[in-house]
Amino acid sequence: MKILNFGSLNIDFVYSVEHIVSPGETISSSQLNVYPGGKGLNQSVALARGGASVFHAGMLGEDGGMLRKTCEENHVDISLLRTVEERSGNAIIQVSAKGQNSIVLFGGANRKNDKEYIDEVLSHFEEGDLLLLQNEINLLDYLIELAAQRKMKIALNPSPYDEAVECCDLSKIHWLLLNEVEGYQITGEQKPDAILGQIQKRYPQLHTVLTLGKNGVIYQADLQRFTHGIYNVPVVDTTAAGDTFTGYFFAGIARGDSPQECLRVASIASSLTVSRKGAIPSIPWRDEVLGADLPLAAP
Ligand code: RIB
Repeated sequence: MKILNFGSLNIDFVYSVEHIVSPGETISSSQLNVYPGGKGLNQSVALARGGASVFHAGMLGEDGGMLRKTCEENHVDISLLRTVEERSGNAIIQVSAKGQNSIVLFGGANRKNDKEYIDEVLSHFEEGDLLLLQNEINLLDYLIELAAQRKMKIALNPSPYDEAVECCDLSKIHWLLLNEVEGYQITGEQKPDAILGQIQKRYPQLHTVLTLGKNGVIYQADLQRFTHGIYNVPVVDTTAAGDTFTGYFFAGIARGDSPQECLRVASIASSLTVSRKGAIPSIPWRDEVLGADLPLAAP
């Protein structure tokens, strides 16, 4: 099974602030760091650091040298990546003293994908290969249609949720990784049980991973559910915690690990990510994850 991640690549401008700025307020930041990021790229790096081989497709701007270098340093295959005359995607991220974040995105090159490019990229993949998607690029619905025609297995992380997700045919998706807010946006239900019940009813083919923040994660497939808690770590910056989870989860699936083991390893990896700054700089390598001895938080 080959893995294709068709997703965003962003330059993250990360401002350290006492608290997240309120409407009409002006505040000073104590630090500015510029990191490689983007949900797509973060997930590709997590897949690679988690031990999987991954192709990353998407659009870079002419200022995207740092993003290209990040892929190369992490052994992410970029033979299908393209550069366009645009700025690369970027994100303005505030991180508060409590480790909470708030993000403004500029799509830039991430929104320059066209059908001809998508056709070309997907022609390199076949039945049973995995296509991983997030919602920071354009033409998500077209990607899903085409990948389904090629009988690829499609995994969707519908984040950040907007009307583009509503245009996607979720009956063609095999894996859905979402949080409670996205669960509400998709199903209209607020409680985890009800969200999962609706998903099972509407899309019985789905293998769903519902992340619940400090309450851990629930996996649902074929009327079975497994849960996993979170680990106790000091929270420094939650940026890319979900992306790390997703990448590590699919690295485990690609290896043939059980869903329970995938949840365990992905939970350790994302806990390590929240304990340090930045998106990609905070994503751990597999050796560190397997060697980590973290205490499970009390349920
Ligand atoms: O999930 C974290 C990512 O969201 C950041 O790296 C930022 O680029 C935004 O896409």
